[in-house]
Amino acid sequence: MRNVIILGSQWGDEGKGKIVDVLAERFDIVARYQGGHNAGHTVFIGEKKFVLKLIPSGILRPGKTAVIGNGLVIDPVALFTEIDALESAGVKVTDSLFISNRAHVLFPVHRMMEGMSEGRPGRVSIGTTSRGIGPCYEDKAGRRGIRVADLLDREAFRAQYDSVMEEKAAIAKALGIYDELDFARIRDQYEALAERIRPMVCDTALLLNQAIAAGKTVMFEGAQGTMLDLDHGTYPFVTSSSASAGGACTGTGVPPTRISGVIGVSKAYITRVGGGPFPTEALDGEGEAIRKRGNEFGAVTGRPRRCGWFDAPLMRYTAAINGFDSLVVTKLDVLDEFDHIRVCVGYRVGDRSVVGMPPTVAEIAAMEPVYECLPGWRTQTFGIDSYDALPAKAKDYIAFLEQKSGVEVGCISTGPERNQTIVRAGSRFERLLS
Ligand code: IMP
Repeated sequence: MRNVIILGSQWGDEGKGKIVDVLAERFDIVARYQGGHNAGHTVFIGEKKFVLKLIPSGILRPGKTAVIGNGLVIDPVALFTEIDALESAGVKVTDSLFISNRAHVLFPVHRMMEGMSEGRPGRVSIGTTSRGIGPCYEDKAGRRGIRVADLLDREAFRAQYDSVMEEKAAIAKALGIYDELDFARIRDQYEALAERIRPMVCDTALLLNQAIAAGKTVMFEGAQGTMLDLDHGTYPFVTSSSASAGGACTGTGVPPTRISGVIGVSKAYITRVGGGPFPTEALDGEGEAIRKRGNEFGAVTGRPRRCGWFDAPLMRYTAAINGFDSLVVTKLDVLDEFDHIRVCVGYRVGDRSVVGMPPTVAEIAAMEPVYECLPGWRTQTFGIDSYDALPAKAKDYIAFLEQKSGVEVGCISTGPERNQTIVRAGSRFERLLS
């Protein structure tokens, strides 16, 4: 059995897209388990750049099966925009993509609702991706959501859609934003898209469990990151799904007893997009230098990412929540030119040290990070593909991250290409994937 969850250790954008793409060749199936087209996984293959939002990065490997699990919310318009772009770039999608009949369908009204709540005076703006993800999950939890299986049943869909949209229209009217949507035209558009989705839809929990029983291997691809998890993240500055490892089971229907390992992904530093606490954010010239060297701008929204230093206590927290067996450190080369590199080794409020991760934004904002400063290596690591070839100070930096966060670093990425990757011999990472 080799079924592994790969997910982000912080607030998303850890470089999972490339890692999932690199590792996909070792698995038969790649499955997404939560989120929607708020995710943006950038993968470079030669000159070609692919930004995958809803479709698992594994789709770029011919012969692999890709699954969109029940835990996702799907905007069919976004789905087909992505499918069409991939197919016109020569990637075969429709033959190898399977979509859960239990996934929820996202409608334009969800975006409208989100725009309203994000912009409302007196409400704390989360700084969302404005894709309507939160309101779609609200409908799911409110038991009024429309699922892919409902969309495929034309008569039932009409009745359900009209009833749900009547409620939405009443809210929109009360808020004076009713004119923005043509509910009947959208229904017709979704009915047409249902016919395009139909051939890809199945009970993906059954598909995955049967495949596992037959000896096939599955990689579960997390989107966003643990600190954006609805339960475990920096609430309310989180996304609306279960991005941490537990979500892989609820979001696909594969039981915990079938999971063999969990791998976390982190950059050699940290970034965050949108609002919310970020203890090690570098608000000085060094943050700007990281942003420039790392080209830290959102793959979905283009927003500049907030940049800061590696946070070991935060990593200890997310390692505990997810049970990380090993860590992948990406974008090591971005730190190549720094004289000194800071790493947070603890938090303090006054002279009291903080144990664990506090639950409220106010408590997190009150903490002061305690830093240790490591010497930079000031040598190019870009493209290095063997651990031995790394400069000694870069190896010291990796060893320090391992020691302070308590998780081995089994894989290091030194550039966007597939071959710019180091897998450490003898690591748990290597064993988990062989
Ligand atoms: P939502 O997922 O659009 O509701 O946004 C909620 C929060 O999650 C915002 O801070 C977003 O910036 C953040 N977020 C959502 N998806 C991603 C992602 O793929 N990478 C990084 N941040 C994300």
